[in-house]
Amino acid sequence: MCGIFGYVGQPTEVGPMVLGALKQLEYRGYDSWGVATRDGGRVAVEKQTGKIGTATVTLPTSPIGFGHTRWATHGGVTDANAHPHLDESGRLAVIHNGIIENFRELRDELVARGHQFRSDTDTEVVVHLVEEGIAGGQSLVDATRKTFARLHGLNAIIVMDVTQNELVAVKTISPLIVGLGRGANYVASDTTALVEYTRDVVYLEDNQVAVLRPDEVILLDLHTGAPLPLRRERVDWDAGDMGLGGYPDFMSKEMAEQGRVVRQVATGYTEYARALSDTIWESYGTFLVGCGTASYAALTGSYLFSRIARRHVNAVLGSEFKYQEHFLTNRSLALALSQSGETADIIEAMVTSRARGAKIGALVNVRGSTLDRMADLSIPLGAGPEQCVLSTKAYIAKLAILTLTAHTLAGTPEIARDILLRAADALDRFLAEGGSARVRAVAEQIAGADHLYVIGRGLNYPTALEAALKIKEVSYVHAEGFAAGELKHGVIALLTAGTPCLVFAPIDETRADILSGAMEMKSRGGLIIGISPLHDPVFDLHLPVADVGDASPIVNALPAQLLGYHLAKLRGYDPDKPRNLAKSVTVK
Ligand code: G6P
Repeated sequence: MCGIFGYVGQPTEVGPMVLGALKQLEYRGYDSWGVATRDGGRVAVEKQTGKIGTATVTLPTSPIGFGHTRWATHGGVTDANAHPHLDESGRLAVIHNGIIENFRELRDELVARGHQFRSDTDTEVVVHLVEEGIAGGQSLVDATRKTFARLHGLNAIIVMDVTQNELVAVKTISPLIVGLGRGANYVASDTTALVEYTRDVVYLEDNQVAVLRPDEVILLDLHTGAPLPLRRERVDWDAGDMGLGGYPDFMSKEMAEQGRVVRQVATGYTEYARALSDTIWESYGTFLVGCGTASYAALTGSYLFSRIARRHVNAVLGSEFKYQEHFLTNRSLALALSQSGETADIIEAMVTSRARGAKIGALVNVRGSTLDRMADLSIPLGAGPEQCVLSTKAYIAKLAILTLTAHTLAGTPEIARDILLRAADALDRFLAEGGSARVRAVAEQIAGADHLYVIGRGLNYPTALEAALKIKEVSYVHAEGFAAGELKHGVIALLTAGTPCLVFAPIDETRADILSGAMEMKSRGGLIIGISPLHDPVFDLHLPVADVGDASPIVNALPAQLLGYHLAKLRGYDPDKPRNLAKSVTVK
């Protein structure tokens, strides 16, 4: 996690520039932020906990500066633990994304040699090690190289020496992109923070060190220090519409865009679906890999391919993949599902897959992201920028693409187009015809609940898991999703009078069994909220959705998203940036 931005060039108002860039990177973490520039021969810093919001900085005009938004890993959310971290002389500063797995031994070593630590972070060891290297006669570059080589884990760091107007950047897995300007150069953890300044970029690779000066960027090998060629690329895409467009928050806006996203897949993804279905057809073992919401899209995919294409595909959590990688061969396909394209566990899974000779596919929303760039076949989700930390439209896009691909593999793409177009219209109609107000009325009835349970079966078992995740992560109501058949195996013990129970009851082979599960919950006092095309007497409250066949997970997701949203609003929480979360999880 953590967002990084750096500048070196002509003296300018670096503070506000860096702060502006950090706002764009805040989705990577919003526990604290900090900016450092040069003040004479010393580093000047402003940093504080909390979201940037309307904060301003009053740092001096400077030819060099950088900043950081933090998602805390080591050390609490305090001003002292906010980056940048400085050396004891106040001439060096460091910002970091990642986890230094061996920081304890490095810290002990440094303390034994008399260094004074001012934070509880793993990051601070870097600046003291670089300081030692420089004191021992090394250049900033060599001291940073040697320091980085000692770090274990997936890390990206930038070190600044204000006396030299030089930034040194180096990374393993965690992305860093260098922006090449005229008389100024930039570095950031995300291309979108650079395009305002330049579209000429260099994607830093592992074991490469970038040295940024106002008039040049040099690349060196981490281990030997030998110069490497600079592979300049042009960013030819736009970030897309980043505004709120009249909506009160990004979650509302992104939920409302879902009809368009599904329609786009139904009408414009024929070739992508063919390429992906051919790749799955040729593979001997397909693994859909995702984290969080994307993992539930992957799980839905395993049901879709089974029922539509009679094809077994595995759904695996990114973080669990390495414990199940033993079946991978050079005929396997590992398909990464990821909005950001930067989730560390998925990147690691793909690195492992590649090492075993497997083919890498990706369904990714952010262009130019690590997964987009590393995949043999990368299919854009085309959902446009998703800025709410909760994933909504990217989830729906993945479901639509998987539905179309499964039908393409089965030789029936026209069926997918039909149900997807019906689902797209249904999503739009749900909102146009007062669906949000109906869900809010339900939310008002249950806003005081401590617990909420969700059941689904078959194709909508993953929908139940995703619904529970959406509700708990944004409203902080404890919500759990279950396969309805598991109710009697323990879950039912949790029900007390009035406990809200969300029930997905599409018109398919699961309906009779799911309704009987709902009846069992109701008999124990559960308040049954049915999400279903048809009413049933077991429902205490009914949220009607369209009957769209095997696209039911798509239309069922929207009322669950809205329920989370309205519960959050009623309980006074920010739906776009829930506590403790980050949109892009770039640490393991
Ligand atoms: C975080 C986000 C989720 C997202 C998950 C996977 O937890 O808050 O919304 O589903 O990461 O992210 P990805 O970018 O790989 O889809």
